[in-house]
Amino acid sequence: MKIGVPKEVREHENRVALVPESVKKLVAKDITVVVEADAGVASSFTDGDYVSVGATIEPDRGKLLAETDFLLTVSVPEADDVAALPAGCKLIGPLLPIRNVERVQQLASQKVSAFSTDCIPRTTRAQSMDTLSSMANIAGYKAVLIASVEVNKYFPMFMTAAGTVFPAKVFIIGAGVAGLQAIATAKRLGGSVEATDTRSSVKEQIESLGGKFVGVDAGEDAETAGGYAKELSKEFYEKQAQLIADRCAASDVVITTALIGGVKAPKLITGAMVEKMRPGSVIVDLAAEAGGNCELTEPGTTSTHHHVKICAPLNLPSTMPFHGSTLWSRNMTTFILEFWKEGQFQLDLEDEIIAGALVTHDGGIRHEGVNKALAGGES
Ligand code: NAI
Repeated sequence: MKIGVPKEVREHENRVALVPESVKKLVAKDITVVVEADAGVASSFTDGDYVSVGATIEPDRGKLLAETDFLLTVSVPEADDVAALPAGCKLIGPLLPIRNVERVQQLASQKVSAFSTDCIPRTTRAQSMDTLSSMANIAGYKAVLIASVEVNKYFPMFMTAAGTVFPAKVFIIGAGVAGLQAIATAKRLGGSVEATDTRSSVKEQIESLGGKFVGVDAGEDAETAGGYAKELSKEFYEKQAQLIADRCAASDVVITTALIGGVKAPKLITGAMVEKMRPGSVIVDLAAEAGGNCELTEPGTTSTHHHVKICAPLNLPSTMPFHGSTLWSRNMTTFILEFWKEGQFQLDLEDEIIAGALVTHDGGIRHEGVNKALAGGES
């Protein structure tokens, strides 16, 4: 099997899908790895690093695509690249199928068996293949670092000759993977941390990291069977708005990470709430990619409203490309080797990980949400 690793072409994408330490593991299993020239440079891996562990460098992108058996990507593949793939090859990358229905249709008509990293089930067995978690961890960590640079205060408490400096007050909305990492990082920097979530099951996790849980009892089941947050009643959001307004007004830093079903960003911070915040305080909206948790968020920019900075960074894992690529690469390698048996990638359609992640196969689309959207229904 010939794995192809193209240089990523999406703007501001510095990661690469496979790093040399993973190439070594794959080559040891008699898998051929072909890497496009300079594919790893933005993540600090040279062509020489890849060659030294057994990869081949291919300067011709078209040839790499046309001859691949299994293409690995970090971003949604471009239409031109998909058009160059041979029928019957495999691909794994973040397809975000509902947002990229046309690309999914193209992959199907090209007869590519495409796996979407974001559709890998979040089960214990698949944990080491879970790119959503690896990347959310980086985002949560980086969000706190951004806040620490943008806020007008120290994070830690200091006793100085000039008197005591009190710790920054940090409020984190949403305690999933990114939120929990943000709590841990803000605590390490010495901040005083509060966090809220609609899923009461995370209270203990927040407290185990040294944060204080603040919340409104949903009084209803707030969690899906898969562990994601559910959309809740209007009454709940009204009660929660009061809590969020109060905590934002009392905080120096607010980090928002809230998503419903892993994809939809509820609008939790209104313009009026921002106006009640302290001048010089900062919001880092990690849900910007999905539109944002603050109604003033402008995805991809930092804006200022009433002396409050609203940072809405996109693709934070790409800003830490060495580890962004390394963790992505480890997740991909675990996925491939899980199904590598008797010198072949076994496409076992009955396996729950394959069944969850495989979006197109044999000319058809297997993703329920995409099929519903194409039939004109709700996704
Ligand atoms: P996510 O990115 O979908 O959402 C982030 C957080 O926002 C969630 O904790 C959610 O409850 C919260 N949220 C939604 N609406 C909110 C609101 N109005 N106010 C406050 N918070 C709100 O979540 P993520 O990080 O993808 O995790 C989802 C679930 O998946 C978690 O239960 C996590 O434990 C589970 N998980 C399981 C894994 C595995 O077993 N392999 C791996 C990673 C996560």
